[in-house]
Amino acid sequence: MAKKSIADVDVRGKTVLMRVDFNVPQDDSGAITDDRRIRMALPSIESVLARGGKLILMSHLGQPKTVEPAFTLKPAAECLSKLLNKPVAFAIDTVGPDAKSKSAALVEGGVLLLENLRFNSGEKKGDAEFAGQLASMADIYCNDAFGTCHRTDASMVAVPKAMGAKPKVTGFLVAREIQYLSDTLSAPKRPFVAIVGGKKVSDKINVINNLLNICDSVLIGGAMAYTFSLAEGGKVGNSFVEKDKVDLAKELIAKAGKKLVLPIDTHCGDAFSGDCNKLVVKGGEVPDGWEGFDIGPETAKQYSEIVRNAMTIVWNGPMGVFEMPPFDAGTRAVAEAVAQSKGTSIIGGGDSAAAIEQFGLADQVTHVSTGGGASLAMLEGQKFEAVELLD
Ligand code: 3PG
Repeated sequence: MAKKSIADVDVRGKTVLMRVDFNVPQDDSGAITDDRRIRMALPSIESVLARGGKLILMSHLGQPKTVEPAFTLKPAAECLSKLLNKPVAFAIDTVGPDAKSKSAALVEGGVLLLENLRFNSGEKKGDAEFAGQLASMADIYCNDAFGTCHRTDASMVAVPKAMGAKPKVTGFLVAREIQYLSDTLSAPKRPFVAIVGGKKVSDKINVINNLLNICDSVLIGGAMAYTFSLAEGGKVGNSFVEKDKVDLAKELIAKAGKKLVLPIDTHCGDAFSGDCNKLVVKGGEVPDGWEGFDIGPETAKQYSEIVRNAMTIVWNGPMGVFEMPPFDAGTRAVAEAVAQSKGTSIIGGGDSAAAIEQFGLADQVTHVSTGGGASLAMLEGQKFEAVELLD
């Protein structure tokens, strides 16, 4: 169902409480190493500021259980200030005296970021009292935190509920993510091809099941391929496998028939290092003492051809150890084919988003999701309470 967006509400002179996902990676010194999630929230933020709204931003960072200074959002406020080229006020609490006085002092076009929501135990508990205090600071609630939409934390669910009859709308990022990860996939142009990789079948079982129902082909890569290999009676050497998921893999193979495409060759090494001895073997023929680290060159060629001819592509999970050359080759080949395809290409968040960025191809695909768990949940066909309850 189409949701009202921040563009549909008159924000002039009003206080907008916007949930963003500024849960960005940082190095040991606290410096932000990838500001993509902050940049992707800029259209909603700028839209409110340009129209004379007073903007309160709230987010979590990491998984602190209480106030843990290493998880302060202050660096995010500084990063946002640089991106907006204007001051961003920062409150050292969430619903305490600093947040209250700084939000009351906001002028039209002014912006304030609250400290990490998870410094308050009410956030994870979905606490109504905490939510009520946040909601009382604003006239309009906006959810632009796609990466957190699969959570039911207070700021995602209890706060919009506590807004009562006041407007509760989506931001542009949430609207865009839903457009691609849900709407496009529900009416895909065909052939519709999914590429699913990563380490564990168990992490992706619901995704594979859902995609098998809607796609023409599901191409499997990453270490999960070795569990499928075992299910087919193959040899996996020392490769990572989930032995307790072999029966599940057998069921998937039986259900999927030709739709499920497994690697025809494997690039192996004799130690977890880029300098190890290497060997390419046929799928299901990994010798003892060797470990599969990537799809092999024949698989990369076959997958690339299928992907290049697709009209809708969804990709979640790398084909191998893409952080460790030369075992990045399979993931790179698939990424290049996705970039070359003329179809709509959607990259689920997490590792596949990191891979497409690493290869410098992010601007050649249709959409790179900012959600890890959230995009997986959406590919599983889940609905989010945090979105459903919006106007
Ligand atoms: C994410 O990075 O997936 C989101 O920000 C959600 O974070 P969480 O897994 O700590 O809830």
